[in-house]
Amino acid sequence: MITIREESFHDVEAREALLDACFGPARFQKTCERLREGRKAADGLSLAIEQDGALVGTVRLWHVSAGPDRPALMLGPIAIDPALQSLGLGGKLMREALGRAAVLGHKAVLLVGDAPYYERFGFSTEKTESLWLPGPYERHRFLALELEAGYLDGARGLVSATGAFEEKADLAALVAAAVQGQLPGMRPAA
Ligand SMILES: CC(C)(COP(=O)(O)OP(=O)(O)OC[C@H]1O[C@@H](n2cnc3c(N)ncnc32)[C@H](O)[C@@H]1OP(=O)(O)O)[C@@H](O)C(=O)NCCC(=O)NCCS
Repeated sequence: MITIREESFHDVEAREALLDACFGPARFQKTCERLREGRKAADGLSLAIEQDGALVGTVRLWHVSAGPDRPALMLGPIAIDPALQSLGLGGKLMREALGRAAVLGHKAVLLVGDAPYYERFGFSTEKTESLWLPGPYERHRFLALELEAGYLDGARGLVSATGAFEEKADLAALVAAAVQGQLPGMRPAA
């Protein structure tokens, strides 16, 4: 059975393994990664697609500003288990993500990807011509979809990350907890 649900922290390992399988280590060099690194994904928009209890697909959306003062989302990465591609799962996941984004009140979604795939969901280069990303990318792959008609009219400028920062573990607190034996699997220091 196929289920689409919000990701939890239990999914992180399987999600990262899937992304490694689909994109390899080069994924961290992508320009879009500059808009994601160190940030939290948008609330409610980290989705997992599960088949019989196993994570077989992932998509996340991130807060950005499309030029000054124009909140939008950046979608990616999206990936489906290579053994299950071309069965419609990617399409299901995209439609679910875009539907949830609209319900949450988001007004536009940007992404960098293959237009021949994403145009079936309504993405095009039409509204990205005066926007640019913080690094190299192929302009014909920089696409946008308006969830509210006309929202990106006149959008111009750099796309920048606006998501909340990820909380970083406090190293001193971790060391103190380890010394006191409060971390699972660790004995107190002698
Ligand atoms: C791209 C991806 C998410 C699509 O998911 P999927 O479940 O395979 O796609 P669906 O089954 O919904 O759709 C399949 C259709 O999309 C087409 N398609 C898939 N990837 C495509 C691409 N990159 N460019 C053009 N068409 C593509 C297939 O040819 C197929 O066409 P058809 O409907 O005419 O037969 C998935 O193939 C994947 O994970 N690929 C590797 C990672 C990746 O490239 N992610 C996207 C980064 S831009």
